Amino acid sequence: MTHYTISVAYGDGIGPEIMDAVLNIFNAAEVPLNYEFVEMGKKYFEQGYSNGMSAEAQHNIEKNGVLFKGPMETPKGAGMKSINVTARKFWSTFANRRHFRSLKGVDTVYSKAGIPIDITIVRENIEDTYGGIEHLNTHDLAVSRRFISRPGSMQVHRFAFEMAKKEGLKKVSCGHKANIMKITDGLFLETFYEVAKDYPEIDANDIIVDDLCMKLVVDPKRFEVVVLPNLQGDIVSDLCAGLVGGLGFAPSANIGERISIFEAVHGTAPDIAGKNIANPTSLLLSGLMMLKHLGLQSHAVVIENALLRTLEDGVHTGDFGDRVIPASDTSDFAQAIIANLGRLPKESRPKIAQPDFTWVKPEPSTETIMMTTEAKGLQSIDGFDVFIESSEDPKTIVEKLKHIIPAEMNLQNISNRGTQVWPNGSYFTECINHYGLRFLCAASINKAQFFSLMAEIDKIFSVVSFEMLLNLNGKRGYSLAQGE
Ligand code: NAI
Repeated sequence: MTHYTISVAYGDGIGPEIMDAVLNIFNAAEVPLNYEFVEMGKKYFEQGYSNGMSAEAQHNIEKNGVLFKGPMETPKGAGMKSINVTARKFWSTFANRRHFRSLKGVDTVYSKAGIPIDITIVRENIEDTYGGIEHLNTHDLAVSRRFISRPGSMQVHRFAFEMAKKEGLKKVSCGHKANIMKITDGLFLETFYEVAKDYPEIDANDIIVDDLCMKLVVDPKRFEVVVLPNLQGDIVSDLCAGLVGGLGFAPSANIGERISIFEAVHGTAPDIAGKNIANPTSLLLSGLMMLKHLGLQSHAVVIENALLRTLEDGVHTGDFGDRVIPASDTSDFAQAIIANLGRLPKESRPKIAQPDFTWVKPEPSTETIMMTTEAKGLQSIDGFDVFIESSEDPKTIVEKLKHIIPAEMNLQNISNRGTQVWPNGSYFTECINHYGLRFLCAASINKAQFFSLMAEIDKIFSVVSFEMLLNLNGKRGYSLAQGE
């Protein structure tokens, strides 16, 4: 059998303890993997590596294409970006797949009520507000940029449908907030149904994210696969973890075209680190997702059945399970699973292995990969939004501006925090020192004329940012202010 080589990072806090437990189980089950250990995490931030990993670690992971990692700590307050988020974005692991299911021996309100849970969340893993592009526009206003791209959305939707098809699942739901964020979430939703057309055998439907949260709690059985934008997916994932007993039972796979990362959902648990009492189940389940990703289906199933049997036997770490039965420590919990290798669960249905397959390591890329979709139609400029810092009344702002606006441009409205305050508005709208001036232009306007207007505005007010109002093939590419 082929022995694949993967990169392994122990991580920080409880990382080394739970990783050792999982690798001991893998070794006992004779999983055909070679491990190359890489250094990433807290220690590397402290040594001055701003992205938390050495060049050797980066090279090793890019060579192997698979990283199995323990949780990692990002030092707080020093302006460092999370190593976990950096790794996902750096290597374009665009889909975060998390499987939440009831496990015998892990009591929850749902298991006690006889409601089984089996939900997969596919979270877009790169875009959204996780670009981390944020600016203070005035001392009173912070702005975050939210990226939702057509190719990025299509990529994650296709992953969700392909996964459902492979696993024989019948339903894929898209969670979104397109009723409010009509352009960003609207694009996520539009591309969902575009991709769904290629999978007519799967029931594709959508649901507004707040309704989704309520229905997941009230009636979780109605969902099989849910695909969501990054931030909403992050929150809904933890909600689902709560349904099945907490983060200790939630595995996570970050899947990319070339590199994939498998990790536990929980963090470094500094409060229990070094005590050998942490629960390794989440990391083990993530490891099983990795084995399945590598085509090692039969090894994955043997370990999974042993885990199910162990949980049914009542073996548990201190964070879950029957309090009457003394808790096992991390290594004893792993040993109990090892002792059950080859045994089947008695109460839950044993897992049956899909056929093994040969994993083909994706070719590394040597140049920038552009993800584009076919551009449709013409792009023109309808106008501009200019954002200024001012604490004056909207009418005073208009008075000051009216002499400098060229004939080809029209001041359409003024808004404050997205609500129109001029020409119509309400004195009940409370304002802050940041106004949006919307200029609509005659077709003949060019960017140079706009920039010269902006320079004129900046002589009166402080211009803090601007946006083009694009029109794509007759479709307005910008939102209207509330009340516009
Ligand atoms: P956490 O998940 O580390 O801990 C929250 C609580 O859950 C703690 O009481 C902890 O003892 C418990 N817990 C977590 N995992 C457990 C396990 N396997 N067994 C038993 N109990 C467990 O979250 P927290 O405290 O917010 O974050 C601690 C650090 O972890 C931070 O530096 C954070 O940035 C990092 N982190 C890393 C992640 C990753 O590497 N993917 C994910 C989340 C947080």
